[in-house]
Amino acid sequence: MACDPNEFAARRAVVTGGTKGTGRAVVRRLVSGGAQVVTVARSGSHERMGDVTLVTADLATAAGCTALAEAALDRLGGIDLIVHVVGGSRSPGGGFAALDDQAWQTEIDLNLMPAVRLDRLLIPHMIAQGAGVVIHTSSIQRRLPLHDSTTGYAAAKAALSVYSKALSKELGPKGIRVNAVAPGWIYTSAAEALVERIATSAGIDEAAARQRILDALGGIPLGRPAQPEEVAELIAFLASDRAAAIHGAEYTIDGGTVPCA
Ligand SMILES: NC(=O)c1ccc[n+]([C@@H]2O[C@H](COP(=O)([O-])OP(=O)(O)OC[C@H]3O[C@@H](n4cnc5c(N)ncnc54)[C@H](OP(=O)(O)O)[C@@H]3O)[C@@H](O)[C@H]2O)c1
Repeated sequence: MACDPNEFAARRAVVTGGTKGTGRAVVRRLVSGGAQVVTVARSGSHERMGDVTLVTADLATAAGCTALAEAALDRLGGIDLIVHVVGGSRSPGGGFAALDDQAWQTEIDLNLMPAVRLDRLLIPHMIAQGAGVVIHTSSIQRRLPLHDSTTGYAAAKAALSVYSKALSKELGPKGIRVNAVAPGWIYTSAAEALVERIATSAGIDEAAARQRILDALGGIPLGRPAQPEEVAELIAFLASDRAAAIHGAEYTIDGGTVPCA
């Protein structure tokens, strides 16, 4: 897809979870628009990321968030855009009774706290310059939880969406736009891993597990999951000045999965 190679020129961006799936597509999209990007993952090599700075850290910990914030400010000298992509479901299937305290904590540590901690570390720099954009990646599961396998994840994403809205109220008057995206099924290796987990825990094959997810979602009217690049395009739009009046909103990208407005 052709894009303006200067749309994000001189923009200094942090993208979390940028080595795979949606995050990698966001990094590529921002770089192709001219942005300077720092990203983070627990693994991965600098060589494979080209011009992008890769920080190796575990964002599920406070220390990992601090390490990323310090490295990003050191590398970029400031911050104009934060795209929080990191997240995912880690819990076993089996409904509410299978979720012990540790499983709940794991979902919160990965899906809520990295945004809370990084925003706290980086947004003061945006406030000081009176401008910035923050985008949180939630999920349609905050409204449409898969009760057998992702209750903790869905609840953590619901918390993230509410947090994003609250932040927008506080930061709008300071010149900082805050929005969220809520994807449905995205075709990534993480989504395939969820299929495998459900298949294993239910003792069914992967085709049946995939169908079980589709049934629980009520189907995808467009007939397919989104590609990571399609989600990245929405995020790039929200990050750009083309979306200068969009604030405090959450954009669903799910092929029509959520059955009501
Ligand atoms: N895929 C879907 O169907 C779907 C649907 C709705 C919403 N979402 C949301 O969209 C976002 C992206 O999902 P995705 O499927 O594209 O993800 P993904 O393919 O699993 O990629 C996750 C990225 O985050 C990194 N990462 C994972 N845990 C980390 C940690 N603790 N600290 C630092 N980095 C970490 C991974 O690298 P390492 O493994 O090397 O750390 C990778 O770069 C998530 O917030 C997810 O909840 C996804």
